[in-house]
Amino acid sequence: MDIKISFDCTNVNWDNVAKILKQVGMRHYAPHLHKKAFMNSYVTLFTYFDNQMIGFGRAISDGVYQAALYDIAVIPEYQNRGIGKIILRNIMDKLQGCNVILYASPGKEGFYIRHDFRRMKTGMANFINPDQKREMGFTD
Ligand SMILES: CC(C)(COP(=O)(O)OP(=O)(O)OC[C@H]1O[C@@H](n2cnc3c(N)ncnc32)[C@H](O)[C@@H]1OP(=O)(O)O)[C@@H](O)C(=O)NCCC(=O)NCCS
Repeated sequence: MDIKISFDCTNVNWDNVAKILKQVGMRHYAPHLHKKAFMNSYVTLFTYFDNQMIGFGRAISDGVYQAALYDIAVIPEYQNRGIGKIILRNIMDKLQGCNVILYASPGKEGFYIRHDFRRMKTGMANFINPDQKREMGFTD
């Protein structure tokens, strides 16, 4: 598969980003908010096949020693074909020297464990919507 990778946020179809996040069951917002979040991120990555956006991801970081991954998603038709791995590896390459954290969608931990992530024992979160996050399985 000839997958095109782009780190560039310009000319991204943000409606599509919101649609894909919704499609894969992740938190999604109005398209202009995704644009702002990606534009304000340290690394952004989009994957395309035949000019169709099929996946993306982003990291926020201080660029020195701390980073966090968000919005890693691959459209269902292209999952389990190595695209998630491409997204993760290319973002991680830009974060060398950083401790990288994330919170996996419940059930997706295995994907990250395969890529050398380990469960955190002291991870704490102050979520905007704590009850919902608890119900979704993110917190105690
Ligand atoms: C999680 C996700 C990004 C993985 O992308 P993908 O393109 O399907 O993954 P890949 O095909 O690159 O898989 C890479 C490896 O991880 C493994 N893997 C993928 N999903 C997995 C899962 N849920 N549990 C365990 N292993 C998994 C694959 O078997 C593969 O292993 P291999 O290298 O030994 O062959 C994708 O399934 C997705 O978008 N899911 C919905 C959104 C989501 O939950 N995102 C994560 C938010 S934290």
